Amino acid sequence: MDLTQFLQQLDELTASAVGTFEAAPDQDALEAARIDFLGAKKGQLKAAQKHFGAVAKEDRPVAGQRFNETKQAIETALENAQQRLQSGGGTEAQGDPQFDPTLPGQPFQLGHLHPITQTIEELKDIMGRLGFSVADGPEIEDVWHNFEALNIPAAHPARDPLDNFYLGVAAAGDAERRNELLLRSQTSTVQIRVMENCEPPVRIISLGRVYRPDTADATHYPMFHQMEGLLVDYQVTMADLKSVLRLFATSYLGEDVHIRFRPSFFPFTEPSVEVDYHWNDQWIEFGGAGMVDPNVLTAVGYDPSKVNGFAFGLGVERLCMRRHGITDIREFYKNDIRFLHQF
Ligand code: FA5
Repeated sequence: MDLTQFLQQLDELTASAVGTFEAAPDQDALEAARIDFLGAKKGQLKAAQKHFGAVAKEDRPVAGQRFNETKQAIETALENAQQRLQSGGGTEAQGDPQFDPTLPGQPFQLGHLHPITQTIEELKDIMGRLGFSVADGPEIEDVWHNFEALNIPAAHPARDPLDNFYLGVAAAGDAERRNELLLRSQTSTVQIRVMENCEPPVRIISLGRVYRPDTADATHYPMFHQMEGLLVDYQVTMADLKSVLRLFATSYLGEDVHIRFRPSFFPFTEPSVEVDYHWNDQWIEFGGAGMVDPNVLTAVGYDPSKVNGFAFGLGVERLCMRRHGITDIREFYKNDIRFLHQF
C-alpha cells in the first residue's frame, strides 16, 4: 500500500466514523458504532493501523502523523455525539434548554507560511546579520536590466527566445530592444537597479521569483526563487566572496555541510564560480557567483579603477530542499497541504 492509498483510507474512515456518530439516534447505537470504529481488537481504526507497516519507510513520518490526527478526529466526534445524546439530542436551533453556548467551539485548522516563504525570511535574517540589507526589483523586466547592463550581448545564447518568457515581439533597433519586456530570468537584474540608484559602497541581497521555460524535474521548475547578493566596495577580493558564502552555508545548512567552488563562466562576473553542496553522495549546484565584471560597473556609472565587488545568485528551493531533506522540487508547488503541513 502506498502513502496515497493509506491517506485516502484514513480520510474515508474519518468521514464514515463522523457521519455514523452524528447520526446515532441513542446511546446503544453510539456504543455499537464506537466498538465498530474504535474497538481495541476488531475496530476499523485498528484494521487501518495494520496497513501502516506496508507504507514505504520514508513515508512513515507523514503516515504516522496523519494516523494520529485521524484517531484524534474520530475520538472528538465520539465525544461530541456523547454530549449531544446526554443533552437529549437537542440542538440550539431547537431551543434546547440544556444547550450550553459557552462551551468551546470546534478548533480551526490554522494555516502557516509556505516553506519557501519561511526560507526567504530565514535567509534575510542570516544575511542581515552579515550586514546585507534587502532590495527589491520587478518580476517584469526590460532587456537592459536582465541582459545588456549585465554584459550579456544580443547574440548571447542566454537571450534566446526559447530560453526566456518574452512579453512581446523583438524590436528592430538597439534602443527599442533595451525596453523590450520579459519575465526576469535571474535576480541579477536587481544588482543593476541598485547600482543605478546609489553610490558605492553597496551591500544588498534580493530575494524573489524568476522564470525560465525549463522542463520541471526533481531539481528544476519553470518558476523558482533566487537570492541575489551584491557587495561593492574598495579592494574586495575573492576571499571575501568565499568567506561570505561559506558563512552563509554553515549558518543555514549546518556546520557539517560541505560546499565547493567550481570554476565557471558568467558574462557579468570575472572570475566566476558555481557553488555546490554535497548531499546523498552527490554534488548539487545551488548557485553561481564571482567578482563583478568591470563592464557591469561601467554600465551603471561606477569607476572600476576605484571600486570592485562580488555577486552571487543562489537557488532558494534547492537550499530549502537540502535543509529539510526534500528530494523533489515539484512538491513545493502542488499545494498538497499534507506536504506543506510538515514545515
Ligand atoms: C544565475 O542565474 C546567475 N544570475 C547567478 C549569479 C549571480 C552568478 C551573480 C554570478 C553572480 P544560474 O542560471 O546558474 O545562475 O542559476 C543560479 C541557481 O538557480 C542555480 O544554481 C540553481 O540553484 C537555481 N536554478 C536554476 N535554474 C533552476 C530551475 N529551473 N529550478 C530551480 N532552481 C534553478
